[in-house]
Amino acid sequence: MKAEPRTRILLIAAVAWALFAPLTTAGHVEEQTPGRAEGWLIPETAATERSPVPVTAAMIEKGKSFYLSKCRRCHGQDGTGRGPDADPAHAPSDLTDARRASRNPDGVMFYKIWNGRANPRMPAMKSEISQADVWAIVSYIKTLRNQGPLQDKAPGGSHRRR
Ligand code: HEC
Repeated sequence: MKAEPRTRILLIAAVAWALFAPLTTAGHVEEQTPGRAEGWLIPETAATERSPVPVTAAMIEKGKSFYLSKCRRCHGQDGTGRGPDADPAHAPSDLTDARRASRNPDGVMFYKIWNGRANPRMPAMKSEISQADVWAIVSYIKTLRNQGPLQDKAPGGSHRRR
């Protein structure tokens, strides 16, 4: 009988934990769900998605003009991430890096551009241009990529993040 109040307290604590733990973890789930790596909002199916718009020279030209007006200020004319608005503390990804490119299938890039991200900040395009125009940008930025894996980049450069 002596142990009973203590047991009761433990029981209350356990019940309280069971009730509130899901609420407190819910906020973290938001950031840690797979497919939302580091704040990008990327659906599970993204990696297999391809442009529904036929990729033509004209489409790539259109993508280029959007790139120059919307992306150059951070990613730079050549895509290496040295635009005038680039944040030195959170450099925009080097879009020419062949190793990074292999981790960014078309659909993944589409959603990165479409949804943007909060921190480090990249503006979402979904409120500015159409999906077809974002696919045009995806096609254009692929032309900025270095082709071979033997690019002479600093080993383990600043763009290791996924
Ligand atoms: C305000 C500056 C800014 C603008 C404008 C901007 N970006 Fe970015 N972008 C960033 C930053 C910062 C990152 C890196 C985020 C990180 O650390 O993962 C990034 C990352 C990316 C990535 C991911 C690359 C990778 O290897 O993961 C792509 C693709 C991209 N940007 C394309 C674009 C395109 C296309 C546009 C124009 C429609 C654009 N960005 C406009 C700042 C910007």
